[in-house]
Amino acid sequence: MIERADAEPEYDDTAIRFLEALWGEGYLSPGGPEEVDRVVAGLSLAGKRILDIGCGAGGIALHLAEKHGAAHVTGFDVEAPVLTVARKRAEQRGLSDRVSFVQAPPGLLPFADASFDVVFSKDALLHVPDKQALFAEIFRVLKPGGVFAASNWMIGHDGEPSAEMQAYVAAEGLSFAMRSPAHYRKAMEAAGFRDITVVDRNPWYRDVARGELERLKGPLYAPVAAVVGADYVAGNIRTWEAMQKVLDSGEHRPTHLRGWKPDEGR
Ligand SMILES: C[S@@+](CC[C@H](N)C(=O)[O-])C[C@H]1O[C@@H](n2cnc3c(N)ncnc32)[C@H](O)[C@@H]1O
Repeated sequence: MIERADAEPEYDDTAIRFLEALWGEGYLSPGGPEEVDRVVAGLSLAGKRILDIGCGAGGIALHLAEKHGAAHVTGFDVEAPVLTVARKRAEQRGLSDRVSFVQAPPGLLPFADASFDVVFSKDALLHVPDKQALFAEIFRVLKPGGVFAASNWMIGHDGEPSAEMQAYVAAEGLSFAMRSPAHYRKAMEAAGFRDITVVDRNPWYRDVARGELERLKGPLYAPVAAVVGADYVAGNIRTWEAMQKVLDSGEHRPTHLRGWKPDEGR
């Protein structure tokens, strides 16, 4: 395991506390376990070895072990604070033998070829600029016959982002490298994935985000401000307002992806 000395983590302790208050313990993306179940719907994960790329605070890795019966889940992330939280939760839940966490810098995945039956990811791949290199790596670490299943925040097109989209990404202040569903599909095809499916989740999140904004302005405001400060919550309310515009226009496109690594033996 390579531990990197993180200069400035994007998901620091304050961000983790804020996002967990909104999305649930261990979750740094929307939808909770129900949305994870939709990403893996129809897949049999029992007894499988799973890699969770961009695992964040670990709620999903624990869910895949506890509810879906994975033999082992490896949560991988580039930042230290999220993994500190994830490891603590795995210990508290008595799952440290079936769920482990690995930190390494962005780039090549620190795993041997054909290590995993399933590669999962939730709303993390948008941080990786080179999608072709990313999918070549995901393909490499999957066993033949293995499956990639993910949710990810995308942009609806590959042209110049609208002024609203640029304002939203600036408000997030995170290293977003958003690409279109078509761009992702091409990168997956180039890596060798087959039977690729792409599912638009914009209509779902458009409504959910509206509810999140209402809760942030209403019942969540005081308790979350008590934890992270009123300025931090106010800044995020502005971010959510900017996000709602590009969700409503369809330019912000949360999307599910799935694809299979062919099993040459069959
Ligand atoms: C929005 S959070 C989602 C975390 C988790 N998947 C969840 O849904 O709760 C994005 C995560 O991606 C991680 N990340 C950023 N760049 C990455 C990279 N190049 N490779 C892997 N993970 C990365 C961040 O550190 C963060 O934990």
